[in-house]
Amino acid sequence: ITVQVNKPGDAVSKNMYGLFFEDINFAADGGLYPELVKNKSFETDDHLIGWKAIRGAAGLESYLVSTDRPISNANNHFLRLSVKTAGPDAAFVNEGFRGMGVKEGAEYTFSFYARKGPGNVGGVNVTLEQSGRGGPGPETPGSGKALAQAQITGLTTEWKKYSVVMKPSATAAKARLKLAVEGTGTLDIDVVSLFPKDTYLKRENGLRPDLVQLLKDMKPGFLRFPGGCIVEGRTLAQRYQWKETIGDVASRKPLINRWNTEFIHKFTPDYYQSFGLGFFEYFQLSEDIGAEPLPILNVGMACQFNSAELAPITSSTAKGPNAAGQGDEPTLETFIQDAIDLIEFANGPASSPWGAKRVAMGHPAPFNMKMIGIGNEQWGPQYLERYEPFAKAVKAKYPNIQIVSSVGPAPDGDLFDKATLKMRELKAEFIDEHYYAKPEWFRQNVGRYDNYPRTGAKIFAGEYAAQSVAIASENNKNNWDCAISEAAFMTGLERNAGAVAMASYAPMLAHVDAWQWTPNMIWFDNLTSYGTVNYYVQKLYALNKGTSVLPVAMPANAKNGTDNLFASAVADAPTGDVIVKLVNYSTTPRAVKVNLAGAKKVGKNGTAFVMASDDLNTMNTIQEPTKLTPKEEKFSVSGSTVSYTLAPNSFTVLRIPGK
Ligand code: AHR
Repeated sequence: ITVQVNKPGDAVSKNMYGLFFEDINFAADGGLYPELVKNKSFETDDHLIGWKAIRGAAGLESYLVSTDRPISNANNHFLRLSVKTAGPDAAFVNEGFRGMGVKEGAEYTFSFYARKGPGNVGGVNVTLEQSGRGGPGPETPGSGKALAQAQITGLTTEWKKYSVVMKPSATAAKARLKLAVEGTGTLDIDVVSLFPKDTYLKRENGLRPDLVQLLKDMKPGFLRFPGGCIVEGRTLAQRYQWKETIGDVASRKPLINRWNTEFIHKFTPDYYQSFGLGFFEYFQLSEDIGAEPLPILNVGMACQFNSAELAPITSSTAKGPNAAGQGDEPTLETFIQDAIDLIEFANGPASSPWGAKRVAMGHPAPFNMKMIGIGNEQWGPQYLERYEPFAKAVKAKYPNIQIVSSVGPAPDGDLFDKATLKMRELKAEFIDEHYYAKPEWFRQNVGRYDNYPRTGAKIFAGEYAAQSVAIASENNKNNWDCAISEAAFMTGLERNAGAVAMASYAPMLAHVDAWQWTPNMIWFDNLTSYGTVNYYVQKLYALNKGTSVLPVAMPANAKNGTDNLFASAVADAPTGDVIVKLVNYSTTPRAVKVNLAGAKKVGKNGTAFVMASDDLNTMNTIQEPTKLTPKEEKFSVSGSTVSYTLAPNSFTVLRIPGK
């Protein structure tokens, strides 16, 4: 293999490898967003999702979800409890997100709003207790054991917020929260929260630290959010609306999640978006992990696989009372205005209406957003009809904002290629291609961008993952076969960095007890998390992305992976290193000689990062989270040649120092 060190080619984008975030698989509520109470404000369509009354022979006489003098107009439902006979079974329980994960000795802030009604309610006993099930199903041994207790007293007849810190006496993956009324009478409660103090950077309303750390460790170039299909919604009314996700957390109204579905895995009828993790928090997360924020906005179309509902292009054709694009039925104008306002929210000064909202939320400096996406995974004339005026309006107001355009979902075929061509004609800046396919597709398509033009629109490989069985089948595995095939494909992304500017594996997160899609990059339960073998492939690329592509000449029989040998190389200007990526997709070891042609100075010792497994079914799991991770090895360089034996089924990154 010859690496032409003296002929650096295209620059590698500094955002090349990034993250795709979508609230799918309990990625936000129950995952990255660590609020432990599900449906804390009783605002889901079925207002008692996540809650259950405990009614003994005596005790809780009745309960109802009321709207009688609520906390606010935005948060206008609450729970009213009436107790006739005092006793410990006059209680309501929240099950959490497949249970609540709590750690021994850690601190959790319990808070709620409460108001006394007629009668003599003395207070509320708050118990964090062992559950053992965390959802529907029979109780298990140990259920009901108290892990932490607190008492709230001093209730008045006006709404007031109460809070107390709770410290569990033991670790539990599936705890639950019980609120028992003391005394008799009526009590109103709302915005019930149990929030860990140990969040990333110890922020109030912060994020789960182990998950943020896994993301940060990748040094991601960008963070794409909030999806995925949830951007579109099944219907336009169920689309993601960023303006509903900022400001006071207690006033953010939940919305049914597009992945609240029996499609694919298990029906998750309790899947809502609380928006505790909203657009402000996404921008903040991007900043925390050093990634460029990349919000994807609805173009005025619901999901084309579902209702395919369309927003009218002009208000004259709208049905609702919305001449100005406001009101019940949004028009395209509404969607464009949302984008314009988002740019102001992210980047505008404190003196601007939307910039002021960001400042009020505690971020005076602009987020310096540089890109937005218009539409997720959409295509065809109806998309173009909306995309064109949308992109034009954004550019007219904010010429420096770069736009990511959509071309639909399929990896092959006419539709996809034509859409990409059309987008190039329209002078798109980034084209968001998605491909979910079998592992062999990834190995066979390593040359996908070899002939893609180096001028004009760049490719954003915005969602991709090898699927071991079939698209999103519940039998898909995050196994080494998929990951090594992605590694092989990524040599093609890397050597075509002149055409491909950004790439992200998808989806990013999944709860082991509540997923709708496979495979996923990071899996977690209520207490722990792990990076899949696919995660480590992504991480190796991101940490070794270099700054410019170096031409690689392969042995004649190994061109483009035909002999199951894949390679790409980059130079890294800051360190002076040459970085060579090699994939040996075969069951035998393979000795390679890498010649650094034209190298002026070459160090004597290099470092290799190797992932290898004889078994292509190897996976990391909750039980064995680091079964297969990169191993660091040293190797020596002879003159300007590296002789290295690639292990069977291996992905190897060789870093060769400049001196
Ligand atoms: O990543 C899962 C889904 O795949 C995304 O929501 C969608 O964009 C794609 O179809």
